[in-house]
Amino acid sequence: MVTIERIAQFVATQAAGDHSGHDLAHIHRVVNLSDYLVGFYPDVDQTVVLAAAWTHDVLDEKLVSDSAQLQQLRQALTACYHAAGLSSDQVTAVYAIIDHMSYAKNLRNHWTLTLAGQLVQDADRLDAIGAVGIGRAFYYGASTGAPMFDPALPPRENLDHTAYRQVTPVINHFYEKLFRLGDLMNTPEAKRIAQERTAVMRQFVAEFKAEWQFGASQDN
Ligand code: ADP
Ligand code: NI
Repeated sequence: MVTIERIAQFVATQAAGDHSGHDLAHIHRVVNLSDYLVGFYPDVDQTVVLAAAWTHDVLDEKLVSDSAQLQQLRQALTACYHAAGLSSDQVTAVYAIIDHMSYAKNLRNHWTLTLAGQLVQDADRLDAIGAVGIGRAFYYGASTGAPMFDPALPPRENLDHTAYRQVTPVINHFYEKLFRLGDLMNTPEAKRIAQERTAVMRQFVAEFKAEWQFGASQDN
């Protein structure tokens, strides 16, 4: 029998104290979104999807940079999957997802994911957009010391993975990534939700800029 609860506990211990936007609440939302999306695909292994959703940020290079520490964490994670009752094939399927789904990794190499992986990737991307996405972008921006907005700095085009990690005004991040995510969704239901969430962000950014410029004359 598979007990996803065991994996949830592992992640709760590991994620405690993260303040980069990869907090446990993000993980819970991604699990819920993944669970919802997999409901459209009865043939997809729900255990693989949920295990990947729970653990998709555990081995993030941004959070664990030391390679020995990363190796140790990977071993602990593998032990946890087995203790939760996943078969070796399921563990392999979960790693194939979590090792290749991140946005930054896909700027470096384009990875082809299984359908199970596409669902978790859609869920993770949906959590980067809409009202929660707006909150996360400002939270992340503050953690790097980025300004909210700088009208003199245009958004960058075609970011590669190194440029992606450079500090950029938060409003630019909407043009550089968040407004683009809708078109990158893998599945129709995620695309549909993304359209609604993107409309919320577009309205927010338009209002933000209008307030920022309020009363400013054309030449200052
Ligand atoms: P992933 O989890 O796919 O690797 P990231 O770690 O890059 O994605 O992003 C985590 C969260 O931080 C997302 O909500 C993302 O939009 C936000 N974020 C990433 N880079 C920036 C940035 N330069 N400015 C504002 N928010 C950012
Ligand atoms: Ni995530």
